[in-house]
Amino acid sequence: MCGIVGAIAQRPVAAILLEGLRRLEYRGYDSAGIAVLDPVGTLNRARTLGKVARLSEEVAAQPLPGTLGIAHTRWATHGEPATHNAHPHICRDRCVLVHNGIIENHEILRREQRAAGHRFTSETDTEVVVHALYDELIAGHTLIDAVRQATVRLRGAYALGVIDIQDPDHLVAARQGSPLVIGVGFGEHFIASDVFALLPVTNRFIFLEEGDIAELTRERVRIWDRDGLPVERPVKTSSVAAESAERGEYRHFMLKEIFEQPRAIADTLQGRLVGNRVLPEAFGNQAAELFSAIEAVTIVACGTSYHAALVASYWMEAIAGLPCRVEVASEYRYRAHVVPQHALFVTISQSGETADTLAALRLAKASGYDTTLAICNVPESSLVRESDLVLLTHAGPEIGVASTKAFTTQLVALLLLTAVLGRFQRLDEVGEARVVALLRALPGKIEEVLALDDRIAALAEQFVDKHHTLFLGRGEQYPIAMEGALKLKEISYIHAEAYPAGELKHGPLALIDEDMPVVVVAPNNALLEKLKSNLEEVRARGGQLYVFADFQVPMEEGDGVTVIRLPETDDLIDPVVFTVPLQLLAYHVAVLKGTDVDQPRNLAKSVTVE
Ligand code: G6P
Repeated sequence: MCGIVGAIAQRPVAAILLEGLRRLEYRGYDSAGIAVLDPVGTLNRARTLGKVARLSEEVAAQPLPGTLGIAHTRWATHGEPATHNAHPHICRDRCVLVHNGIIENHEILRREQRAAGHRFTSETDTEVVVHALYDELIAGHTLIDAVRQATVRLRGAYALGVIDIQDPDHLVAARQGSPLVIGVGFGEHFIASDVFALLPVTNRFIFLEEGDIAELTRERVRIWDRDGLPVERPVKTSSVAAESAERGEYRHFMLKEIFEQPRAIADTLQGRLVGNRVLPEAFGNQAAELFSAIEAVTIVACGTSYHAALVASYWMEAIAGLPCRVEVASEYRYRAHVVPQHALFVTISQSGETADTLAALRLAKASGYDTTLAICNVPESSLVRESDLVLLTHAGPEIGVASTKAFTTQLVALLLLTAVLGRFQRLDEVGEARVVALLRALPGKIEEVLALDDRIAALAEQFVDKHHTLFLGRGEQYPIAMEGALKLKEISYIHAEAYPAGELKHGPLALIDEDMPVVVVAPNNALLEKLKSNLEEVRARGGQLYVFADFQVPMEEGDGVTVIRLPETDDLIDPVVFTVPLQLLAYHVAVLKGTDVDQPRNLAKSVTVE
């Protein structure tokens, strides 16, 4: 995951590019670079290891004049974070480029290019693109044609920004599998990985489609589609303010964040998958080696993040074959515990600043865990800084106190972890390919569930006057029932409790009557028949059942039973898919009750005190 930005203007562009990089830093921040073509046609480049701020300091000390330039903030996949691996990459003073994505066939291209005399200065997959481009330029192609030719043989994902050092009047961009937008100005044009990067200079954008190649001059933009045909893409005016965390057209941040989940999941997956495999490097440079020695996993977290951990414990044992223990951080930190041999200690936190989770991490390090890993949404947080390995969820800023997109991206991150750890245990290539395929399909599945919003809003009316609700699930859906109950209680103030359905008869059945709605998470899995028997127990006692079930579940609506049908999915990703309608239910109940959805009473987003 990297961020790219480029500009062709009639004014100096270095400051614009650096501000764009700063806004893209959530996409990667291990190194950064910028290249600007100066008025006499010399290309000047600055690259630094570390954050964009460091690059800015370098450019302040040694300014980069010029009106055409590209810049990049990197999240390393191929080649360690280092200045020589930072973009932009140059080939023989002729062409320069920035890239976001992964070129999967880089090894074979590199071998061919080496044999043809190209000298490589980095370990990146990207560098093969700049050499291929050079070959096309010296064969006499224009820049746009050179990009067209050079990209033909690329496999994988890319968003590219490209300059021919001998041509000060063109900037070329290409998109395949990685996002890229064009910013439209007056006498100037821009490219970037997202609109936020360009909001200080324009609010008019062209969103490139898969396979598009675009040629930008100061005056105009021309675009060709994947078949090489010229196309017109609409210019859209963005109403988003330069401040990134805006509600937009949504009534509440929570609703916006629920609807952002397909994108948040796609962003969290980006750069982490190659072909049918999960990249261990996504967790850090040493990850593969460290993971190969792991024999047990302990996961500690708070609140919603704890629920993600509980789901992961089912995955770890069933898929990876690793014993996995999960505990809330506030308990873990204050009790004596045995450190398993060769164990990985995982913390999960949206903010990375939760006091109990941080304390648990420090305790685990002191008590002899081999390796610590943080799954976190905030790159510069304490948890990230203090852990050996890190997997960032790229959910973007989450403003609503009730966590939504942070949770589903945590689940995605935990599935990635399960796959990578499982590889050293009992998960074979076919198994890993299945995980990868399901993850790739997940954003689309979530879109389908979001289409149920109106149906769930109508359903919410039946909960508004209730004082208690029971949530039931079995297996890995039990933690999802817990998460559904937590959402409802924190924003609607309706008391909600979750139970594993098999425990009903050991107590909660005593509470069942017509005033106690029972929400059930019922995917079509091996436990369905058992779950249905539990539901009959509720029904026989006059309880009102609201069952979230996928299309394959044979269950009739009728007296006391409302069935909400979800799209068909797979056991593996069911926990993520079934979370979304429960979020929507809680949201709509809270709206109907008129509570402060985004800032519910007595709660806070980041709990930095004990
Ligand atoms: C607070 C938030 C929750 C969150 C929990 C843990 O309670 O309101 O949304 O799940 O803290 O926070 P963390 O940032 O560690 O995930």
